[in-house]
Amino acid sequence: MLKRFWLWFGRVLGKVLLVVVAVGLGGWAIGAVYYGVKFSGPVSTEEQIPADEAALTQGIIEDAIRVVEQHRDNTRVMRDAHAKAHGCVKAEVTVSPNIDRDLQRGVFSEPGQTWQAWMRLSNGNAYPQFDRARDARGMAIKLLDVPGEKLSKSPQHAYEQDFVMFNHPAFFVRDVAEYKSNFAAQADGKKALAFFPSWNPASWEIRHLIIALKTLSPAPETPVATTYNSIAPFKLGEHNIKYRVIPQPEACPPYQLPEQNQDLPNFLRNALYQQLSLDRVPACFALQVQQQNAEYYMPIEDPSVEWSERISPFETVATIRVPAQDFDSREQNLFCDNLSYNPWHALPEHRPIGGINRLRKAVYEAVSVYRLERNQP
Ligand code: HEM
Repeated sequence: MLKRFWLWFGRVLGKVLLVVVAVGLGGWAIGAVYYGVKFSGPVSTEEQIPADEAALTQGIIEDAIRVVEQHRDNTRVMRDAHAKAHGCVKAEVTVSPNIDRDLQRGVFSEPGQTWQAWMRLSNGNAYPQFDRARDARGMAIKLLDVPGEKLSKSPQHAYEQDFVMFNHPAFFVRDVAEYKSNFAAQADGKKALAFFPSWNPASWEIRHLIIALKTLSPAPETPVATTYNSIAPFKLGEHNIKYRVIPQPEACPPYQLPEQNQDLPNFLRNALYQQLSLDRVPACFALQVQQQNAEYYMPIEDPSVEWSERISPFETVATIRVPAQDFDSREQNLFCDNLSYNPWHALPEHRPIGGINRLRKAVYEAVSVYRLERNQP
């Protein structure tokens, strides 16, 4: 009797498993065909600005200020994103001596030229948490003493060229409209549900949910051992590009970071301190650009789509050296907190493009002014 039951149960279980596998494969095949058709080129090389973008942007600024206020501590207002820094370090950015002529634009115009810079390394979250928590990791670079008129008219940033990145290659929303509804839902405490705005399956953003989950990844061993991406596109002279900063340890003296205690809340800062300040070993990176090939699906207006490296590989335009240094002092940490990065602190040759970048212009300016005004001593 019992034997017959187990045989029957085994057959039922086998059939259920078969159905699950068939549904999974079917879903995958439908998805592959759907995205194969939807994500095919050619695409526009120009920006396309929706009529309601400015109004949506105003609403997002208000939401961002609300988030900043929710997370302020007693004395300081923090950034709305990337609130926790691992440190601000001095860096040298040197234009590659053999940079392609076609890419010699803006700050990359003179092969061999070295720019002094401030690099801020951060966790992505809106308030500080243990480094062990799954999160995006940010890198922001500010080149100093850059001559020429800038896109931002703010006099404090008149000589700066910023590069602002984090360590995932795709963004979790497509445009300003989706950002608005997603951010509002997240602010209401909805997490995964923010990607399912209504009962209508056509509104579900499962691909974007997967990107969001992948973006929240375990911490690297040290902030200098992960690749940081612009994610959104930019001009480089007449070209449309994305950029990234990739570790290049082979350009620095060989170094093995001693194992860090990852249970400590700030072990990423500790790792940086260990390498740069205790062991006095520099860190090296390459700054690379990837050109849009508009024959293929490399859109300007959707940073949730990674541009294919097979079709358009990244090319190195500069190297970055973070020299051995002491960076973890009270004064420098305060200075770091008071820095403002913005992709629009830029020469016109490096103009940010696409909806998410247009949105960032207004939001970064507003949040930066808001927190700096309130953090005056
Ligand atoms: C391509 C997508 C994005 C990337 C790569 C990115 C990356 C970063 C990084 C690395 C920082 C920290 C800068 C620093 O160290 O001071 C930052 C700050 C910030 N981000 Fe983003 N971000 C992106 C999109 C957005 C969007 C869509 C918004 C909201 C509309 C946003 C809002 C902010 C704000 C408000 C700050 C703080 C600005 C300040 O107070 O100075 N970011 N972002």
